[in-house]
Amino acid sequence: MKKIIIAIDGHSSCGKSTMAKQLARELGYIYVDTGAMYRAVTLWALRHDYFSADGSISPRLEEDIDAGRVTIGFILNVETGLPEVTLNGESVEAYIRGIEVSNHVSPVAALPYVRAFLTRQQQNMGQEKGIVMDGRDIGTAVFPQAELKVFVTATAEVRAQRRYDELVAKGQPASYEEILKNVQERDYIDSHREVAPLRQADDAVVLDNSNLTREEQSAWLLRLAQSRMG
Ligand code: DC
Repeated sequence: MKKIIIAIDGHSSCGKSTMAKQLARELGYIYVDTGAMYRAVTLWALRHDYFSADGSISPRLEEDIDAGRVTIGFILNVETGLPEVTLNGESVEAYIRGIEVSNHVSPVAALPYVRAFLTRQQQNMGQEKGIVMDGRDIGTAVFPQAELKVFVTATAEVRAQRRYDELVAKGQPASYEEILKNVQERDYIDSHREVAPLRQADDAVVLDNSNLTREEQSAWLLRLAQSRMG
C-alpha cells in the first residue's frame, strides 16, 4: 500500500482530532493536531500579556516568532502513546484546551505571520507522507495535493454539547451557553478571515457526523483511507 497524506479539516469541536488520531493509529501513520500548534502560540501570547483590552495583539508576537523565540513541536507521551504539543520544549497540552486559550486562539490563527510560520512547519512534517493532519486549511493551503481530504462538520449545538461533556469529564468548569457562543464565534472568525479561511476543498469528501456514532464514522473513514492507499 502506498503512503499518503490524509487531510482532515472542518469546524471546531466536531470530533476531528479523535477520529484523526484513531485513523493514524490504525494505519501506523503520524498524527498531527495543527489546532494544538495554534493554541500553543496563543498560550505564548497570553503568558506574555500580548492581548489588549480592545482585542488587538501586540506586534511583539511577530518579533518573537521572527527572532526564533517561539518553537512549537511535539513529543510522544510514553504513558498515553500520544503526541503532545510543546512550546519551547515544554509540554503544554494541559494548558491549551481550557476556555482562556479557546477564547483567544481565533484572532491569533488569523494573523498571516502566524499562519506562515506554522504552515511551513506542517509542510516539513508531511514530507515523508504517512501522515494524518487535522486542522482547518490542511486540504486547501498546507497540502492541496493530499491524496485524501475529509471535511467534517456537525451542528453548532451538537459540537457545544460534546465539548461541554469533555470538559465536565475532565473535572474542568464549563458552561454550555458559553461554549456554544465560543463555538459560533470561532466558526465565524475561522470562515471569514482573509488568510486561509476555513472552507471545504473542492475535492474533499464531506462527513456530517451530527447523527453518527464514533464507531460508525471510524469504520467509514478507515475504508475510505484504505481505498485511497490502493
Ligand atoms: O482544532 P482546534 O479547535 O484546536 O483549533 C484551534 C483554533 O485554531 C481554531 O480557532 C481554528 C484555528 N486553526 C486554524 O486556523 N488552522 C488550523 N490548521 C488549525 C486550527
